Amino acid sequence: MFQNQVAIVTGAGRGIGAAAAKLFARHGASVIVNDLDAAPCEAVVVEIRAAGGVATAVPGSVTDPDFPDHLMKTAVDTYGKLNILVNNAGFTWDGMLHKMSDEQWQAVLDIHATAPFRMIRAAAPYMREAAKAEKEAGGPVEPRCIVNVSSTSGLHGNIGQINYAAGKMGVVGLTKTVAKEWGAFGIRCNAVAFGFIETRMTQAKEKGETIVVGSQEVAIGIPNQMRQMAPMVIPLGRPGTPEEAAGGIVLLASPFAAYITGHTLEVTGGSGI
Ligand SMILES: NC(=O)c1ccc[n+]([C@@H]2O[C@H](COP(=O)([O-])OP(=O)(O)OC[C@H]3O[C@@H](n4cnc5c(N)ncnc54)[C@H](O)[C@@H]3O)[C@@H](O)[C@H]2O)c1
Repeated sequence: MFQNQVAIVTGAGRGIGAAAAKLFARHGASVIVNDLDAAPCEAVVVEIRAAGGVATAVPGSVTDPDFPDHLMKTAVDTYGKLNILVNNAGFTWDGMLHKMSDEQWQAVLDIHATAPFRMIRAAAPYMREAAKAEKEAGGPVEPRCIVNVSSTSGLHGNIGQINYAAGKMGVVGLTKTVAKEWGAFGIRCNAVAFGFIETRMTQAKEKGETIVVGSQEVAIGIPNQMRQMAPMVIPLGRPGTPEEAAGGIVLLASPFAAYITGHTLEVTGGSGI
C-alpha cells in the first residue's frame, strides 16, 4: 500500500509510534524511525529489517530546535523524498492547575504543539515546495500527508492534565490550519485522538518509572486505581493495544483516506461518545 513511499514516525522507539513504524514498513514504506532513546529506536529498525522491511534510525529530541531540519534532511538524503510525517513523540507531566509550574506547562506544550509545528515547517521544502513544483510541471503528484497525534484529553479536557489538554487541542488547530494551507498542493493533514492505549505512558504509576524532562525527574504512568476504573467508561470495555492505535494512524495515511483532510479521528474504543 505504501510501496515507494517514505514515512517519518517520531517517538517510534516504543508504544504507538513503534507499532505505526512497523505497520508502515509491513505495508511497503521506507521508514525513518525517530526516538529520544537511541537503543529502542535502533531495536525497532532491527525488527523491521528482520521482517524484510526498510528502515533507518534517527535518534534525537524533537524539541531540540535544530533537530527537525536534521531529521527531514536525513530522511531525504537516505530515501530521496518524504511522503508521510507522523508527529507522535510525547510524554505527560501531570499536575493540578493550581500547582502547575511554568516549566511543567512549557515542557508539555513544547513536545505536543511546538515540536509538531517545527517538524511540519521543516518538512515544507520536501512536502509543500516539492508538491508545488510537481503541480506546476503538470506531471504526476506524489501522495503526501501528515498525521498528528492528539488525545481525548485535548478534545474533552482531563483532570490533572491542563498542560497536556492544551497541547493536544493545540495540535488539532494546527492540523486544520495545515489542511487549509497545504490542501491546494494535495497535501492532507489529519489528527488521531487516542483514548486509553496500553503503553509506557499509561502503565501503573506505582511501578515507579521516571523520565528526565529538563532539570526534573518526572513519574511515568497513571495511578493504578484510574487504570482499573477507565475501562468502565469504554464501550469496548478495555484499553486499546499499540497496534490498534497504529491502525488509526496508518488508515489516515493510506489511499483509503485520500479525500479526508483536517479531520480528527477518535480511536478510543468508543469512550467519549
Ligand atoms: N497511551 C495513551 O493512552 C495515549 C492516549 C492519547 C494520546 N497518546 C499520545 O500518543 C503518543 C505516543 O504515546 P505512547 O502512548 O506510545 O507513549 P510511549 O511512552 O510508549 O511512547 C512515546 C515515545 O515518545 C518518545 N519521546 C518522548 N519525548 C521525545 C522527544 N523529545 N523526542 C523524540 N521522542 C520522544 C519516548 O521516548 C517514547 O518512546 C503521544 O503523543 C501521546 O501523548 C497516548
